[in-house]
Amino acid sequence: MFYDINDDINDILKRLAQENITFNDKIILVTGGAGFLGSWVCDVLIKQGAYCICLDNLTSGRFDNIAHLMKEDNFRFINHDISEPIYFGFTHHPKGICVGEIKKIDIVMHMASRASPFEFKKYPIPILKSNTLGTMNALGIAKAHNALFFYTSTSEVYGNPPGDAVPTSEDYFGHVNPVGPRSCYDESKRAGEAFVKAYELQHKIKTKIVRIFNTSGPRIRSGSEFGRVVPNFIKQALSNQDITVFGDGTQTRSFIYVTDEIEGILKMVYKEEALGEVINLGNDKEFTILELANMIKELTHSDSKITFKPLPIDDPVRRCADLTKAKKLLHWQPTTTLKEALIKTIAWFKDNEL
Ligand SMILES: NC(=O)c1ccc[n+]([C@@H]2O[C@H](COP(=O)([O-])OP(=O)(O)OC[C@H]3O[C@@H](n4cnc5c(N)ncnc54)[C@H](O)[C@@H]3O)[C@@H](O)[C@H]2O)c1
Repeated sequence: MFYDINDDINDILKRLAQENITFNDKIILVTGGAGFLGSWVCDVLIKQGAYCICLDNLTSGRFDNIAHLMKEDNFRFINHDISEPIYFGFTHHPKGICVGEIKKIDIVMHMASRASPFEFKKYPIPILKSNTLGTMNALGIAKAHNALFFYTSTSEVYGNPPGDAVPTSEDYFGHVNPVGPRSCYDESKRAGEAFVKAYELQHKIKTKIVRIFNTSGPRIRSGSEFGRVVPNFIKQALSNQDITVFGDGTQTRSFIYVTDEIEGILKMVYKEEALGEVINLGNDKEFTILELANMIKELTHSDSKITFKPLPIDDPVRRCADLTKAKKLLHWQPTTTLKEALIKTIAWFKDNEL
């Protein structure tokens, strides 16, 4: 299959246009804009005529994801760690660096955070900082500019929920280990959400939070064997290496394709009905990891063997999104099947990642 990312970006634009959703003329700061999801957001915003400021420290992101946007007049890249303060519209500030020429920001989308399990072990402190100090600094920008604040939280805030809390709705408080190997991520996202709510309460800023479930598609990085499951299985299958399943493979995940996720994110940012809300953006179809491994093996025509390794500590047994709220408030649900998503992602991997 020939894959062209522009077809998928145009598909998102078409879906947004059907509901007259446009960010034309808005000035939007996207932290983490050079990452997997952030760069898709930047692409759509630029095509809609927004002025898009991509702030990223290029740790888990790639300059390649945004290089094609550098020639656009309405795109600006700032290489900065959001854990450190930054001030827009100031020429001097005693507490941090300044970007004087950008006087007004309408929307702050705080997406900067490493998000892959292998990074939890290697970079726990930067992850904690991005979601706590980084969220506070990004909220400070929203406060100074009276901007809407949007935060990408995660299904990991639910930790390892019991069976009767799956599919998991937004009112489930979570079952999270505060001192486990994943705590730098899940607890810092929980703290990030608390920061958002505190700024909303005390400074009356407008906020929205999404809890993203396992999203993949073109531009996702494949890390080490502890990375994200979809890109790792694809890479292993395409290179005929063993496909390593952790545990017995009966644990479940709900997978969502990037175009559905970006459509949901931008509907959330746009819609008034979502003001002050926390909404799941995932899939309500649940697949076991073993089903995923077999599907990828079949679609890649791979000779790889499926092998098993011990399950990492605190790995969630089941993950499935309750989408009642997203359907009601955003009129949104994912439409791409797992098979369609994998076919496109595999085609992109063959051209870009091997
Ligand atoms: N992809 C998923 O399945 C998923 C699931 C749940 C939540 N999320 C959340 O969505 C957001 C985007 O995730 P992604 O999948 O695109 O990951 P990603 O790693 O591809 O993107 C994150 C981006 O943030 C940048 N970054 C990290 N720390 C930073 C810092 N301190 N200052 C500035 N930039 C920084 C990275 O360089 C990268 O470009 C993250 O907040 C993540 O937690 C993603």
